[in-house]
Amino acid sequence: MQATALAHTNIALIKYWGKRHDALILPTNNSLSITLDGFYTTTSVTFQDDLKQDEFYLNDQWITGVPYKRVTTFLDVVRSYAQRQLYAHVESFNKVPTAAGFASSASGFAALAAAATRALDLNISHEELSRLTRQGSGSACRSIYGGFVEWHKGTKTDGSDSYAVQIANENHWDIRVAAAVLTADEKDISSREGMKRTVDTSVFYQGWLDSIPRDLEEMKQGIISKDFEKVGRITEANCLKMHATTLGAQPPFTYWNASTMAVMETVLELRTQGIPAFFTIDAGPNVKVLYLPQHEEKVEKMLRETKGVADVILSRTGSGISYK
Ligand code: PMV
Repeated sequence: MQATALAHTNIALIKYWGKRHDALILPTNNSLSITLDGFYTTTSVTFQDDLKQDEFYLNDQWITGVPYKRVTTFLDVVRSYAQRQLYAHVESFNKVPTAAGFASSASGFAALAAAATRALDLNISHEELSRLTRQGSGSACRSIYGGFVEWHKGTKTDGSDSYAVQIANENHWDIRVAAAVLTADEKDISSREGMKRTVDTSVFYQGWLDSIPRDLEEMKQGIISKDFEKVGRITEANCLKMHATTLGAQPPFTYWNASTMAVMETVLELRTQGIPAFFTIDAGPNVKVLYLPQHEEKVEKMLRETKGVADVILSRTGSGISYK
């Protein structure tokens, strides 16, 4: 009753920002991501009949409190799906700075879902696995697949039509992502809390929602036709719109700090120098930069020279879940 799975994280080019159902994790809008090979989680799950509760270790540390609760709550979803009542021993290793806006929850819950279902001998499709994974962390449902992935928000109240699908696999197009690591500190406002406050109070939220269908349509065209300029422009604009909604919330908040803006300026400077590069930012201060392989050296150098940048991690498009 043991299995090990590896999942890569993903970075949204069109963001998931807001839920229509909290417990089932149903989003208000479709989102679209690239799976990244530079960040991943490996998780082993062992279901044992001698355990009195679940146990969770992350990078060899025993985890309690809120992160433990999220894992056990998700294991309850898997147990209920499988109609089994066994507790599990879970060991995860993250090659991602946890909770610093690098979507550690995406690779984390995708690896957990894959390992837990395999340990219970559930032979389920990727679609079904994505639907289950979504209930651990929304963005994680996209990490089941490699390459370019769209999460359909669905319209049903039970969430059965809310899961991710692959648009193009990791071999379709070699575009790269540089992650500028500003801080490995835990973020102040979780994505969960941030999106809730935004949905409930932001005067800009409807504008965000109204803009999604067009962004999605053009983004998909850009990916299929490998139009880097188009994909980059939409990615950056979509990110700015998402972050604008936090400024219109009550009380207002932002995930950016001075170093975040310094990196954004570096990206604008790269473009001034004729290098197509575009930024995107999630629920934390770190910045990810999209670029083409031929510009890797220059992009990395400029990012490393930017004030407040502690490290730069380069990624290619990554593959979907795999089992060890
Ligand atoms: O699934 P969560 O709770 O990690 O939320 C992810 C939210 C963003 O990273 C900001 C956007 C996204 O689509 O990944």
